[in-house]
Amino acid sequence: MTDSPHAGPTTTAPSRTAPSRRTLLKAGLIGGAGVVAGPMLWTQAARSAAPAAGVHLSYGTNPLRQMNVTWSTAGSVQAPRLDLGVTPDYGLTLQPESVSSIRVDSVYHHVDLSDLRPGTRYYYRLSHDGGTPTRGSFTTAPKSDGSFRFAAFGDMGVAEDAARNVNLIRQQGAEFAFVVGDIAYADTGGQGKSGEAQQDFGVWDEFLNQIQPSANTIPWMTVVGNHEMENGNGELGYDGYRARFHLPGNGAGGGQETYSFVRGNVAFIALDGNDATYEYTRNAGYLGATLDSWLEHRLAAFRARDDIDFILVGFHQCAYCTNIAHASDGGIRDRWEALFDRYQVDVVINGHNHCYERTHLMRGGKPVQEAPRGATVSTNQGTIYITAGGGGGSTYPDVLPVLSYYTDKNGLKVPEPTTYRAVGDATHSVAFFDAHPRDAHGQARLDLEVIASDGSAVDTLTIARSR
Ligand SMILES: [Fe+2]
Ligand SMILES: [Fe+2]
Repeated sequence: MTDSPHAGPTTTAPSRTAPSRRTLLKAGLIGGAGVVAGPMLWTQAARSAAPAAGVHLSYGTNPLRQMNVTWSTAGSVQAPRLDLGVTPDYGLTLQPESVSSIRVDSVYHHVDLSDLRPGTRYYYRLSHDGGTPTRGSFTTAPKSDGSFRFAAFGDMGVAEDAARNVNLIRQQGAEFAFVVGDIAYADTGGQGKSGEAQQDFGVWDEFLNQIQPSANTIPWMTVVGNHEMENGNGELGYDGYRARFHLPGNGAGGGQETYSFVRGNVAFIALDGNDATYEYTRNAGYLGATLDSWLEHRLAAFRARDDIDFILVGFHQCAYCTNIAHASDGGIRDRWEALFDRYQVDVVINGHNHCYERTHLMRGGKPVQEAPRGATVSTNQGTIYITAGGGGGSTYPDVLPVLSYYTDKNGLKVPEPTTYRAVGDATHSVAFFDAHPRDAHGQARLDLEVIASDGSAVDTLTIARSR
């Protein structure tokens, strides 16, 4: 098969993977509401030989059947398209939704694929008229209940150790990455009130190119941190984020910032910590009770399902972290900790403090059982809170004071003992989890292994849950 560009999106002979009308509608191949490939872009489009860049994937609501593909071009291009198939001969051509964003020339192209086959490798090719094609492949989540590995971290940015962590994620065979905010640092101020001098939105493209070697093959499931509140970029400051990421979109308030998905026996819930924080309160309470009620419904539904063992919740600001840079956030505790207790959330993953830290088992705001490095613990007894903020941004020194603090509703730093802390580390690292299905005794396992960007071991913990 040649790569000669052809005019406009077309389908060739329908393959066994031919999607439904809904898929075609979502991808903009056929007419219908919601197709946003703007006429302005088409009229301004120029022939550009530059290839697709910043390629990254994310799951839709159902990881078995949906995948969102995003890429960028250096400006508007003519007839951007994605070819897809279960062989490198493709067979299906789809037109993306193309959007621009402020203060960059780049245009971001999105195709939300649905009706895919579970456990199947798909090949894709991204191209436009006159452009060199960029190829990749991904595999949808399988139906089988086998073990799988995923990565979790936050606070990556563009840096040498960040690129090392991207490599680490590839080497470790993670099936997807859960990225808990402070993604690219295109806004260095991070409080949602930066002036233009603190913003360089071109950094987004550097970041997306940095992660492409992993994110073009496995989904990167992102959540917003305080650095995604880009002052001047939409009411919430999220317009830059929304232009560059397509996520399941099944959360509270219909935005991209909260969502849930299930992979195997693990349910994942993504929250917007900016809504609950007492620290940088620009977006505090914008979803409020709508978010909390959605969260409770999700938790109740997941806990009631027999095929789900573990619930993992990810957001940016820390419920529990001793690191004195940001320490713990009372807003997170006030809004969500009682829900995490009630529905026995197994693991909460945060970032924000640029370090690795992990708690003992927590209930009612107190450590209820020790969970030292290398231990086996049961999350039927309590929740493990993890700060995985070593994604690549400059780390904060790890010191264990007798007292740390939490930020209260008046923004005051209230001292408190650090007895909840089990493990801490200041090197750049990624947390990996191996999820295992229930054994003959009805016990499922989530094995945590935290690895530094230089490959050294940081932490291990065996997390078990019984029915
Ligand atoms: Fe950060
Ligand atoms: Fe942060």
